[in-house]
Amino acid sequence: MARFSPTMLERIRSINIANIIEPYVELKLKGRDLWGLCPFHHEKSPSFKVDLEKGFFKCFGCDAKGDGVTFVMRQLGFSYYDAVIYLAEKYGINIELEGEENIRSKDIIALHEEIQKISRKMFYSLEGEKAKEYILSRNFDDDDFNEFGIGYLSSNVDYSSIYKSFSKEVLYDSGFFKESQYKTPYSRFFSRLMLPIRNITSSIAAFAGRSLDGSNPKYLNSAESSVFHKGSTLFNIDKAKNAMKQNKQALIVEGYFDVMRLYKNGFKNVAAPMGTALTSDQINILKRYAEEVTVMFDGDSAGEKAAFRSLERFAETSLFPKVIFLPQEDDPDSFVLNNGIDKFYELYNKREDLFIHMIKRLSASSKDDFNIKLSRFKAVTNMLAKINNPHVRDYYVDAASEIFKLKKENIYEDLKQNRYKKNMALSKNNTGSMYLCEMDFVACLSRLPIDIIDNLLTDFNLDMINDIEIKNILKIMLANLSKISDIREITHELGNQFVELAMREIAEDDIYKDALKNKNQIELNFLKKRQNELIEQMRTTSDKVMQVNILQELNSLTKQIAGKK
Ligand code: UTP
Ligand code: MN
Repeated sequence: MARFSPTMLERIRSINIANIIEPYVELKLKGRDLWGLCPFHHEKSPSFKVDLEKGFFKCFGCDAKGDGVTFVMRQLGFSYYDAVIYLAEKYGINIELEGEENIRSKDIIALHEEIQKISRKMFYSLEGEKAKEYILSRNFDDDDFNEFGIGYLSSNVDYSSIYKSFSKEVLYDSGFFKESQYKTPYSRFFSRLMLPIRNITSSIAAFAGRSLDGSNPKYLNSAESSVFHKGSTLFNIDKAKNAMKQNKQALIVEGYFDVMRLYKNGFKNVAAPMGTALTSDQINILKRYAEEVTVMFDGDSAGEKAAFRSLERFAETSLFPKVIFLPQEDDPDSFVLNNGIDKFYELYNKREDLFIHMIKRLSASSKDDFNIKLSRFKAVTNMLAKINNPHVRDYYVDAASEIFKLKKENIYEDLKQNRYKKNMALSKNNTGSMYLCEMDFVACLSRLPIDIIDNLLTDFNLDMINDIEIKNILKIMLANLSKISDIREITHELGNQFVELAMREIAEDDIYKDALKNKNQIELNFLKKRQNELIEQMRTTSDKVMQVNILQELNSLTKQIAGKK
C-alpha cells in the first residue's frame, strides 16, 4: 500500500480539529478547550474535550481519544487510509504519495494508457469488427464506446513499441503481461472486448476483458498490482463520484454491463465491484461521496442470502444500505432493456432498508414458534453487536423490538452479554490471562517519536509478547521503522487493532516513562512465566541432572526478577 508523503500528512494535521468535529458534535468553549457530548457513547453531560492547541480530542467518559484523522476513522468507520483521503478531498489538500512503489505505479499507469491506445485503435480496425458488432448488438453506440473507452485486443497484437518503452519489471508488475516459459512477456488478454478500469483519479488501474465467443472465463481482469487492488476498486467510480456527491446516493450493481446500461440512460451514480462481494474498503470509498448506498440483488433466495451476507460489511462501517430485489431472470441491464429506464426508477424508488428487510424476513419465517423465533433473533443480535455507532444501534434495536415483539431492555441485555463474550474471547490469550501492559505498551508507542520507538524496540524479544495481534503489530513496526518519520504513516498497515490500542487512555505526563514501565512489566511477566514452567518441571522430574539444571536456571531467574522489581 502506498504511503502518504510527510508534507501531505503535515497539512492534514494542521486542519483545525474543531472544524472536523463540529458537524457531529455541538462544541462549547470552556476555558481554553471546547466541550461537547461524546458521539461515541451515550451521555447527558459533556465529557468530550477538544484541545485546539494540541489538535486532540478526548472523552473522559469512554476512553475515546485521538487526532482529527482518528476522529474521522471512528465517526465514519473509515480505515486510516480512507480517513486521510477524505480529509484531503474535503480541505483541498493534494494527495501526495511517496516511495519507490509510487514511481513504479506511475510507469504502470503510463503502460496502461499505451495499451488503451492500441486497444481503441484495434476496435475500430478491420480486426475489431466482430467486437464492434457484438457490442452494437447489445444496444450500445458510438457515444458509449467513447464514454467507457471500449476497445478490442485480438490474439495477434503488436506490443513491440511497448516492449521498447517499458522495463520487464513494469510489464510483469502491471498485471497485464505474463512471463512465458521462454522468459518473454505475453498478454493475458486475447480476442477480448476490453474495458479500462479507472481509479478515483481516472487513471487506468487495470483492464477487464469480455470473451466474445462464449469461452471461459466470461470476464478476465488484470492481476492485482500496486495500482490495482480488487477489493478497493469500483468500476465507474471515476465518473459516478460527482453524481454521488450531488444527490448523496450511490447504487451498486453486480456487472460491468449493468453499470454501462444505467449510466447511458442517465442513472449516473452507479458503480460495481470487481465480480466479488462488496468489501468494507469499497463501502468506505462510497461513504466519501454518498450518504445512502443502495445494493441490487436477484429476487431469488440466493440473491437474498447474498444481500444478507453483504450486510455484515456494512454494519462494520455503520452505514446501512438500502436494497432492491430484481425480478427473477433479470439483471439491471436486461431489466432496463426490457422495461425502460422509467420502470427502473419506479423500482429504485421502492428501495428499502436492507437490515429492516432482513429483520422482517427472519421474523416472518419463525412461524409463531417461540424457539424458532429466538434462534432467528440470534442473527439479528449478532448484526446489532457489530454496530459501533450508538445512534444507529438504537435505531435498529427499536425496529427489531417492534418487529419481533421483544422488549427493548432485553435486547440491550442480550447485546451486553454478546459484547462481553466477544471481549473475553479477544482478551484471552494462550495462557488465559489478560496482559494489560502489552496493550498499554503499544498505546505508548503510538504516541512516541520514531527514534524513541526504535530505541525501545531494538533489544526487544518479541517472544515475550503473549497476544498474537500485538506481536504482529510490533513486528510490522520493527520492519518499517527505518523507512518512516512518524508512526501514523503506517497506521493502515498496522490495522484496526492498532487504532483501538492507540486510543487507549494512558497517563499523558511522561509517555516515555510509562512505556518503559510497561516494557519492564512485559519482561517481568515473561520471566515469571518461565519460572512457573520450571517449578512445574521440577515437580514432575526425578532426573537428578535435570533437577540441578533447573535449579541453576531458577536461581538466575530469581535474580533477574528481583532486578526488575
Ligand atoms: P455476470 O455473469 O452477471 O455478468 O457477472 P454481466 O455483467 O451480466 O455480463 P454480461 O451481461 O453477460 O456481459 C457479473 C460480474 O461478475 C464478474 C464481472 O465483474 C461481471 O460484470 N465476472 C463474471 C467475472 O469477473 N468473471 C466471470 O467470468 C464472470
Ligand atoms: Mn448481464
